[in-house]
Amino acid sequence: MRVLGIETSCDETGVALYDSEQGLLSDALYSQVKMHAEYGGVVPELASRDHVRKLLPLIREVMAEAGLELSDVDAVAYTSGPGLIGALMVGASTGRALALGLGVPAVGVHHMEGHLLAPMLEENPPSFPFVALLVSGGHTQLVRVDGIGQYELLGESLDDAAGEAFDKAAKMLGLDYPGGPLIARLAENGTPGRYRFPRPMTDRPGLDFSFSGLKTFTLNTANAERDEAGRIDPQTMADIAFAFEEAVVETLAIKCRRALQQTGLKQLVIAGGVSANKRLRARLDEVVRKERSGLFYARPQFCTDNGAMIAYAGCQRLMAGQSDELVISARPRWPM
Ligand code: KG4
Ligand code: ZN
Repeated sequence: MRVLGIETSCDETGVALYDSEQGLLSDALYSQVKMHAEYGGVVPELASRDHVRKLLPLIREVMAEAGLELSDVDAVAYTSGPGLIGALMVGASTGRALALGLGVPAVGVHHMEGHLLAPMLEENPPSFPFVALLVSGGHTQLVRVDGIGQYELLGESLDDAAGEAFDKAAKMLGLDYPGGPLIARLAENGTPGRYRFPRPMTDRPGLDFSFSGLKTFTLNTANAERDEAGRIDPQTMADIAFAFEEAVVETLAIKCRRALQQTGLKQLVIAGGVSANKRLRARLDEVVRKERSGLFYARPQFCTDNGAMIAYAGCQRLMAGQSDELVISARPRWPM
């Protein structure tokens, strides 16, 4: 089965073609990041308009790259939520209409299920069951995964998502959006031990998270270091970025270890934008070694939003017999 996948939930237009026998045939991505950086965050209306501009050219691009025609597509999968409603509607209506025109089934995919399954596109994929840490700009969740669609929520953030915390901390330091990769780069020059940031909610049992306190801590630390002109010297910036990243990574690592111990499972999957973070990967490598477990993640471009994960997740859903009626399904809020 050959599935065209469409992702338009936020600020990346992603399209890909996945074949259940041959694997990923082609994928293309257009990032709107530069346009939104000017405003310090995603502007929903501008995002929708850019998806309208880019979606059809990207569909043509993936078909050409695979050397196939639209008539070779067996089904269409599109992100139906959660996300920005206008942005979702571009992918949903285009995907649904395309499927109708081609006379093939369409399926609306949960964006976080896409992230969750993205590591399955890699060479040594995990096998069910496993524990998954989903860390993106909108979600921080620990999930027990027993199969496609068999997800048990073990814990989640009670306030900000980990990626959101990275983005907000970056903004406080005067960095652009999205701040995650910029904090990570800055932190490479940080001095270990100069600051110690809190590890929220690690001193009590359970698998929930809270990252909003870290934001305030970052702001207070930064403000205490500003000179009369409001500037922070570059080394101090790097040291704050280091301490912030260390606190997020350590908090996530403590909860991942707990989740492995609690479930007795031996595979840990990390997915979503923050799973591209090198320090997080390195720290979780240590955790899984201690727990005699394995760590799985996607290549960096499939950690952040992309069409391949939607094509893959949609293909699994369709092969399990699922498809949607003649509806355009866009759900800004949608629990997995
Ligand atoms: O999964 P994603 O592309 O979009 C959502 O579904 O939200 O995740 C985007 C988030 C942003 O908050 C971004 O700052 C963060 O992932 N991110 C990172 C890194 N790369 C992306 N955070 C920390 N380190 C990174 N290397
Ligand atoms: Zn995402």
